[in-house]
Amino acid sequence: MVNVLKEATNFTQLLNTAEQVRLENLGNIVYLRGLIEFSNYCSQDCYYCGIRKSNHRLKRYHLTKEEIINLAHIAYKNGYQSIALQAGEISSEKEVNFLADLIKEIKDITPPDSLSLGITLSTGELSYQQYKKLRDAGAHRYLLRIETSNEDLFTSIHPPPQSFKKRLECLYALKDLDYQVGTGVMVGLPQQTYEDLANDLLFFQEFGIDMIGLGPYIPHAATPLAIKGVNENMDSYTSTLKMLALTRIIMPDINIVASTALQTINPLGLEAGIKAGANIVMPVLTPEAVRGKYSLYNNKSYTPLIELANRIANINYEVGLWTLGDSPYYFFRTGLQNT
Ligand code: 5AD
Repeated sequence: MVNVLKEATNFTQLLNTAEQVRLENLGNIVYLRGLIEFSNYCSQDCYYCGIRKSNHRLKRYHLTKEEIINLAHIAYKNGYQSIALQAGEISSEKEVNFLADLIKEIKDITPPDSLSLGITLSTGELSYQQYKKLRDAGAHRYLLRIETSNEDLFTSIHPPPQSFKKRLECLYALKDLDYQVGTGVMVGLPQQTYEDLANDLLFFQEFGIDMIGLGPYIPHAATPLAIKGVNENMDSYTSTLKMLALTRIIMPDINIVASTALQTINPLGLEAGIKAGANIVMPVLTPEAVRGKYSLYNNKSYTPLIELANRIANINYEVGLWTLGDSPYYFFRTGLQNT
């Protein structure tokens, strides 16, 4: 795999194989997750991330419960069937309780006897009990990227008390609680090697991950990692596409996101990501007034749903509305029933 990642030859063949594997296993449907970035407060200080707590230049926001429920309602009415609630890392019990109440209320939006709105969370490292509270409230998917499976590299981009070990413990806790577990990495980090990327793929497979969100690392001017620039040995765009394709080939029935970061660094990133094997897109529902403040990296791209749908249709894929689009692998892994 290292050679496939490293070499420029056979790139088209790799992408074609991935597309074939995807069409055979999952068909041509692309599922939507309405992304609600409900707060940019963050209790962590990751060296690469624009919303890190030490970025004092950033104005912080937190949507109210009513605003979030309203957005969830819009998603539901438009047939999205799933939303993803994302924020900077939450830490207080108060915030966990807010989220648990919110999830319960969002679940109530759905009329009885119909498919309820799927809820994906992405709010960072929490305790087992906190993950449990949110699972019991009705969330059923959780995204927590490992960022890199190289422990030394992980340590170099996260200040203490964050640790690789803790991140792994969180992923195992999520698995134990029967969440559909999503993880992923950034591609093109300074000092990252092709061996690291190959090991990331093995990590996804060995852990038995249900969902993948991976994208290019994009330096953010207001972060300490920006001084190191980009990885000179790696083109983050082609390497991300190769990572998507290889992930799809080795894990044919998991869900893979065409990330916003991929769409940000290339105007055709959406199409390329889908053709490389991604079957999930996360249209941003965050209100325009605060969107700019959820700046994980610079110049984040936003594509309106209508444009997304047209572009997806133009490459002969179809948007899957009114259906959850859960990771088939999750049901295989857990033996749970896909309703
Ligand atoms: N470039 C690309 N991705 C980033 N993320 C955070 N900062 C950056 C950046 N500068 C990603 C991380 C995190 C997710 C929410 O956003 O992978 O897990």
